[in-house]
Amino acid sequence: MKANEIRQKFLDFFKAKGHQIIPSASLIPENDPSVLFTTAGMHPLVPFLMGEKHPAGKQLANCQKCLRTGDIEEVGDNSHLTFFEMLGNWSLGDPLAPDGINGRGYWKEESVDLSWEFLTDKKWLGLDPEKIAISVFAGDKDCDFDQESYHLWKSKGIDEKRIAKLGKEDNWWPAGGDSVGPQGPDTEMFYWGGKGKAPEVFDPNDKRWIEIWNDVFMQFNKKADGTLENLKQKNVDTGFGLERATAILQGKESVYQTELFSSLIDFVKSMSRNYEETSARIIVDHCRAAIFILADEIGIIPSNLDQGYVVRKLIRRAIRHARKIDLPLGVDLTTPLVKIVVEQFKDIYPEVLKNKQRIIDELNKEEDCFEKTLEKGLKEFKRLSLDKEISGKESFDLYATYGFPLEMTKELAKEQGVVVDEQGFLKEFKKHQELSRTASAGMFKGGLADDSEIVTKYHTVTHLLHQALRDVLGDQVGQKGSNITAERLRFDFSHSQKLTEAELKKVEEIVNQKIKENLPITFKEASIEEAKKSGAIGLFSEKYGKKVKVYSIGDPSAASTSSGSPFSREICGGPHVTHTGELGHFKIIKEEASSAGVRRIKAILE
Ligand code: ALA
Repeated sequence: MKANEIRQKFLDFFKAKGHQIIPSASLIPENDPSVLFTTAGMHPLVPFLMGEKHPAGKQLANCQKCLRTGDIEEVGDNSHLTFFEMLGNWSLGDPLAPDGINGRGYWKEESVDLSWEFLTDKKWLGLDPEKIAISVFAGDKDCDFDQESYHLWKSKGIDEKRIAKLGKEDNWWPAGGDSVGPQGPDTEMFYWGGKGKAPEVFDPNDKRWIEIWNDVFMQFNKKADGTLENLKQKNVDTGFGLERATAILQGKESVYQTELFSSLIDFVKSMSRNYEETSARIIVDHCRAAIFILADEIGIIPSNLDQGYVVRKLIRRAIRHARKIDLPLGVDLTTPLVKIVVEQFKDIYPEVLKNKQRIIDELNKEEDCFEKTLEKGLKEFKRLSLDKEISGKESFDLYATYGFPLEMTKELAKEQGVVVDEQGFLKEFKKHQELSRTASAGMFKGGLADDSEIVTKYHTVTHLLHQALRDVLGDQVGQKGSNITAERLRFDFSHSQKLTEAELKKVEEIVNQKIKENLPITFKEASIEEAKKSGAIGLFSEKYGKKVKVYSIGDPSAASTSSGSPFSREICGGPHVTHTGELGHFKIIKEEASSAGVRRIKAILE
């Protein structure tokens, strides 16, 4: 079965079971300062797992673009990838609550039923039940043994010997249970990827058992102070990795042998004058990831900051491996690689086609930029590694002067038996202002899981700021990005000049005036078309599906914002305060360029 068919079957199955299929959210999370990329299908849904109402209802499914760089050094083996697609289904809310207009939620029984049917029914994947093993949460001080799932699986005919009971490192999501935000025990499904019959007893350490699906029962929220509380509602969150499932269903040992990667690998092979499989896999994985980051509508380009730094790192690491296996660089390499990816994905993620030229241009620019210093940098690396040790300061110099990402220095060092002081590098890195968020950051700290009072206020005042900017600068001003922490808001918008003192003052005055008027904040659900017609502003990417929530600040019954009332009408997921009077005093603390044609405002509430 081809990957396209598996993806489609998954969505068809859940649709047939009453789920709404929602589009993949952007790879770059909005309003979330705590992570650089969407790492799981649940991530864009955090506000809805926390209790906000989702406009598409309580049963959802999708295929989400995800990126994880935590295991970047493992890429090249049979299964690790940076960019991947995660299929998922969700239930938002308690099954015992009466069916509302948005349907009802479900819990463990239905979740296990759905997973089992999709995996084993001949109409769907038709996997052999004899090759399936399960793990469930063993229980600890926070949460009891998941007896319910255990018995549900047994009732499917799974032998006890094939059900492992494991702790938080394995059967909790996010793994380990240390991160802040919605979480809970999970039950995972494994498939025997080895030759012949599967062993009677499931050994979770045997790598031939391959994890294919994870059903998370999200019933807790970890607060910033570390306490675990019950969520307002019980949720189901599942994740099914498309690439791995494809390999399993095709009986392939590695994801790279599936059609998702084989054309790319074949192309690299045909061009290489010194072929080596691991390097080819790294090149192919990193190129796919870079292409999807560059394709994103937000317009990330290689830089030394945040997502820009990650895409730079991916491209540079790919270039080094390309040199290693003697590939000709430049357009002869990038253009065909981009073409293959675009052809594969243009129907599913149209942004890759739409932004194809930008992707090619940025890849080539970054390559030119890196090539200028690479030779010299490699010489410097050789010199520095004569004593078999590279200090933090030295690895930082390689980064700052020759553009060597730490991962690359580490990799070069490993190849030559040299030790790198990683902590020392990070210290230097921090000292030189570049954010170390890339390297650290607890997954859901702050961010979307933060529905604290202050963050909620910043979400609301961002709407006032957006409208005030349009009032002062004109309606061509549109949101380009937003990022909120408990300390401040940051808002990026299209505008080509620096704002004058007078303009900034005027914007502040309007926002504070609207706060003083103590306007009510209400929302209505609408189709994207209706929302547009009502004059709503905001990012109209189809991130929530066909229905969106339209928030009004001021009299919600007024026909359009042009009458001045309601003051603001904008699509957004929430949450918000109920009246602007709760917001306090608004103050702009900085206005600066963010990228070409985009300005950035940082502001606080006092
Ligand atoms: N959020 C869960 C995962 O990523 C389903 O595995």
